[in-house]
Amino acid sequence: MIRRILTEGIDEFDMTRLDVYRSRGGYQALAKALRTMSPDDVADEVKTSGLRGRGGAGVAASFKWSTLPADGRPRYLILNGDESEPGSFSGRMLIQKNPHMIIEGALLSAYACRMARVFIYLRGEFYEGAEIMRRAVEEARAAGFIGERILGTDFSQEVVVHRGAGAYICGEETAIMESLEGKRGHPRTKPPFPTAAGLYGMPTVINNVETIANVAPIVANGGAWFAAIGPEKSPGTKVCSVSGRVRRPGNYEIEMGTPLRELIEEHAGGLEPGHELKFILPAGASSALIQPKNLDVSLDYDSLGAIRSMLGSAGMLVCDERDCAVHVAYLGARFYHHESCGKCTPCREGTGWTERVLHRMEHGLGRSGDTRRLEELCRGIGGRKCLCLLGDFSVTYLQSALANFHDEFEAHEHGGPCPVTAALEVSVR
Ligand SMILES: Cc1cc2nc3c(=O)[nH]c(=O)nc-3n(C[C@H](O)[C@H](O)[C@H](O)COP(=O)(O)O)c2cc1C
Ligand code: SF4
Repeated sequence: MIRRILTEGIDEFDMTRLDVYRSRGGYQALAKALRTMSPDDVADEVKTSGLRGRGGAGVAASFKWSTLPADGRPRYLILNGDESEPGSFSGRMLIQKNPHMIIEGALLSAYACRMARVFIYLRGEFYEGAEIMRRAVEEARAAGFIGERILGTDFSQEVVVHRGAGAYICGEETAIMESLEGKRGHPRTKPPFPTAAGLYGMPTVINNVETIANVAPIVANGGAWFAAIGPEKSPGTKVCSVSGRVRRPGNYEIEMGTPLRELIEEHAGGLEPGHELKFILPAGASSALIQPKNLDVSLDYDSLGAIRSMLGSAGMLVCDERDCAVHVAYLGARFYHHESCGKCTPCREGTGWTERVLHRMEHGLGRSGDTRRLEELCRGIGGRKCLCLLGDFSVTYLQSALANFHDEFEAHEHGGPCPVTAALEVSVR
């Protein structure tokens, strides 16, 4: 079911303007918190809400916040707006159309966690989004919502907008910190975890922009209100990006627990007439694919985990019978090889080999045993052998494609044009 919390009004009004955002109740949650609530009260509301991180793993926001050490060192909050997952574009929409909700959420989170500074880290390619966000920050500052003694209280806060240089790896939480420190965006070893020693060695929380955008409505309406929306363990809404073979691709904010079938068939308009669903990659290129038999799965963290896939960033790539599994796998392999930072051998070398094998299969030069070679490569890269999860992401979708469409891969071992699309062309004629 469509449920608009983060996207309410964004199609009708120019919510990038401070006066419009305020006329629709914007910054009232901040005023309420600063005037009537302590930082712990705000943190308690977020805990009651059950809000889970929208950046991928679904870690409870309150859990992450609670692991900050109380040792007097400055703490930092980083909003992750890197959003480089193929097929994910929900963060971009929120950044471009509702920047003040993100800023208000950031200020509330910074108040709750007693942060010294907020950094909004945006993907390098989000030039327009960064301009919109910078303008929104300046408008909020001029109105007294950012800076010294906000709304005449003792609370002061600065917000810095930073644009990366365009690398998928800079969405990884430790690579973001390296990038913000002016270094090459390479992941760090963990532990120490960011809450213990993060940006500039200080305790740091990294949350996705959508996670933080939820904090203003939670404080405005109460944590219990939010907790009552959707399944008990995955409350709230999720903005899902749907693309590929659907009639109405776009972003849809749904209540958690909505069946995947409803999202695809009703909201995204279903597949083009005469075509059949083949599979869906629910979290862009980093997730195991979902088969048509699982189309009634509930869209929440636990239900997708139960069918060995994941909700992740909810960038849904929809494929029909015209999409060859080898072709999709090749596109994924090309992406991961290009985005591997090169620090760990299994990821650096493995993604290169995977791309090479799939390149020849895709281009009619497949060799006998290539399917088995791909399976061996996946075993060599996956299983937490690398410093960050990119290595595992690069094999998750591929292993599920190999398991579900083994015949298609084997058919590409013998060279010549793609046997899947060739067979379709014959049947169409
Ligand atoms: C390779 C890689 C890329 C990632 N990209 C993003 C991203 O673009 N945005 C994001 O929020 N999280 C991304 N993550 C997850 C972050 O490391 C982190 O878990 C997340 O920002 C935490 O926010 P949340 O708790 O609000 O979900 C990525 C992780 C990996 C391993
Ligand atoms: S897994 Fe890949 S992207 Fe991650 S640190 Fe290692 S080489 Fe870099």
